[in-house]
Amino acid sequence: MKVTLSVIKADIGGYVGHSHMHPKVLDVASESLDGAKADGLILDFKVLYCGDDLELIMTHTKGEEDPDIHKLAWDTFIRCTELAKKLKLYGAGQDLLADAFSGNVKGMGPGVAEMEIEERKSEPVIIFMADKTSPGAWNLPLFRIFADPFCTAGLVIDPSMHDGFVFDVLDVIENVKIEMSCPEEMYDLLVFLGAPARYMVRGVYRKRDNEVAAKASVQRLNLMAGRYVGKDDPVLIVRAQSGFPAVGEVLEPFSFPHLVEGWMRGSHHGPFMPVSFKYATPSRFDGPPRVIAAGFQLNEGMLVGPVDMFDDPSFDYARQKALEVTEYMRRHGPFEPHRLSLEEMEYTTMPQVMKKLQDRFKKL
Ligand code: F6R
Ligand code: MG
Ligand code: MG
Repeated sequence: MKVTLSVIKADIGGYVGHSHMHPKVLDVASESLDGAKADGLILDFKVLYCGDDLELIMTHTKGEEDPDIHKLAWDTFIRCTELAKKLKLYGAGQDLLADAFSGNVKGMGPGVAEMEIEERKSEPVIIFMADKTSPGAWNLPLFRIFADPFCTAGLVIDPSMHDGFVFDVLDVIENVKIEMSCPEEMYDLLVFLGAPARYMVRGVYRKRDNEVAAKASVQRLNLMAGRYVGKDDPVLIVRAQSGFPAVGEVLEPFSFPHLVEGWMRGSHHGPFMPVSFKYATPSRFDGPPRVIAAGFQLNEGMLVGPVDMFDDPSFDYARQKALEVTEYMRRHGPFEPHRLSLEEMEYTTMPQVMKKLQDRFKKL
């Protein structure tokens, strides 16, 4: 059976500040999607959140970029925004950049990760959702999952994965994409993936049969390319097992809380901390950046789950390490590399400060 998994997310208002989601907003989102399920537009859905981001996880048979599905997500975000405004939640409707829906939520503010797949005999998927960072945060874990044999043993010892994977990479400055094949082009690929503010993985495909293995939400940055657009708390879908990396191989890279951009005012680097659903509330210095992982088994399009995959003591060490790194980075205060470089900051007072002081700069 062909099924489309659509994960569409937006920040439609935070509670308190940019830290969390109001439970009534989640109820409104669920009611809206419940109606669509009763009408037969979608097969199934789950509503989750990570920090101030509302995550709509939907299955249907209409394929990727379907206008009806995107309209459903848009209308749901609008209904949630109306409640957020009534409750005076913070930044109500902040990610809804357009006034009216025009066929596709891409470029209108929300983030989208979608894949149409032929559901296998058993179809485990992991959906990662993050807050206070950008889609470039997935570069390191995606490389490790699909190209690093020290993470994914299957690359070495599973014949169906041994040929490797193809990475589809977006350049957000030039607005171009390139496909690169691993392991052959691994060193070239890393030249790009190591610069996650500019180059971001959009998707990963199994080389043997071009089967989709992972999809990330990069569209907003894609459509606004050419100028700096700040962060876009991202989502990522990864298929697991039977010819794809095992669930444990998919989760393994998150045992290292690597540094990502997007903390406080979208302008600081911080460790990417894997947490259980109940700790997806970035509160220290609006962070540190967080990631949750929801595991599902698809069953004829039904979302059996979620399992809260980081609710596991084997990630305690990563969390502890993230706290040490938090402490270390915070001690830098307003200095790089905790603070991002001037071009990458979402907030800056540089133009005003420069204007005020320009006459005081003397030629040497
Ligand atoms: C980071 C983030 C927050 C805000 C910060 C200031 O992505 O969402 O750190 O940038 O709380 O928010 P405003 O300017 O809305 O007061
Ligand atoms: Mg917010
Ligand atoms: Mg957010």
